[in-house]
Amino acid sequence: MSEFIAVIIPAGGSGERLGADIPKALVQLAGKSLIERCVNGIAPVASQILVAAPAGYEEQFRELLGSEVTVVTGGDSRSASVKAALAHVDPSARFVLVHDAARALASTDLAERVIEELRSGQSAVIPGLAVVDTIKSVDRDGYVVSTPDRSQLRAVQTPQGFDVEVLRAAHESDEQYTDDAGAVEAQGVRVKIIDGEARALKVTTPQDLESAHRYLLGDSDRTALRVGIGTDAHAFSKDPDRVLALAGLIWPDQVGVDGHSDGDVAAHAICDALFSAAGLGDLGSNFGTSDPQYAGASGLQLLHETLTRVTAAGFSINNVGVQIVGNRPKIGPRRGEAIAALSSALGGVPVSVTATTTDGLGFTGEGRGISAIATALVLRAGK
Ligand code: CTP
Ligand code: MG
Repeated sequence: MSEFIAVIIPAGGSGERLGADIPKALVQLAGKSLIERCVNGIAPVASQILVAAPAGYEEQFRELLGSEVTVVTGGDSRSASVKAALAHVDPSARFVLVHDAARALASTDLAERVIEELRSGQSAVIPGLAVVDTIKSVDRDGYVVSTPDRSQLRAVQTPQGFDVEVLRAAHESDEQYTDDAGAVEAQGVRVKIIDGEARALKVTTPQDLESAHRYLLGDSDRTALRVGIGTDAHAFSKDPDRVLALAGLIWPDQVGVDGHSDGDVAAHAICDALFSAAGLGDLGSNFGTSDPQYAGASGLQLLHETLTRVTAAGFSINNVGVQIVGNRPKIGPRRGEAIAALSSALGGVPVSVTATTTDGLGFTGEGRGISAIATALVLRAGK
């Protein structure tokens, strides 16, 4: 790397259209946040990386991204966030790349191709894809004004590359643009388009997040998806004061079960299924029946710790299902609550909770205890 290349990543948006309860850049995609993926993809070409974070999230971004990345406070608009970061670009920078956090899967190769064009003398370079749909220009009343020639249209992406002085001059005005090339064009600078790539798609809606997931899946081999199974069973306690903990909920009017920890068979079966899917042993080998640290742990705490371990091993959870087997309690009336509790302990993944009896047969049918069987599907996190 000869010349100094600064990379600005505007990540100051809230991601309203995605609808998560955290800023979009922090949303997980197969076990890693969008901003981490974005930084990892572009770091090989960068001498300096500046990330504009949403106000109030700066520390969280710093912890996540480490000391190599400079985190600044983003502004009220994308342009304002870019401007805020631009003020911290190293004085020796020759080129600046601006790259949306929302385009987390853009390849390093794309950034390299942008830089190549800058090196060959272009002052503004942006990736773009030919549009497949016919595009109409419309008026405010919803009538078509014109049909531009599709062959002359491009859907543009990031990273967009600029001579640092060109970008600085373009951002001197407070005009709002949806991309930086827009600001540069307004200065009369010629902007060169190069071939973009499908994987640099912008994550805007939940459907986009699904598409991004599919890209990662397509990248990995067949072992990316792994299924696991787990079961657990406990006898009802003779102690009438023992409270029942099941499926992440307390059942105050039900006598509980004997057992290590709170005896939540549904939560324990899910932990086992997750460890099984990730090839990380089982509940016992992870939490040890004799380990005092977990003696009083609730099923939800164990689930959360399981999530941490499975994630640390490079997996993300696709979904889990658990079936509770027993005469009581009736699960149906609290199914929604149970799903919410279990799902929340697992970072919001889809959970299904079903229940059955066994026609009077076996220890569950005889009303002596409860058991649960769970399955889990995990995804080995992509590159
Ligand atoms: N962005 C920013 N500062 C803002 C608004 C947006 O840095 N005030 C960033 C976003 O974080 C994103 C990029 O600009 O990486 C493109 O914006 P967009 O995809 O629209 O993201 P959001 O504004 O977060 O999403 P939404 O419009 O759905 O709220
Ligand atoms: Mg936006």
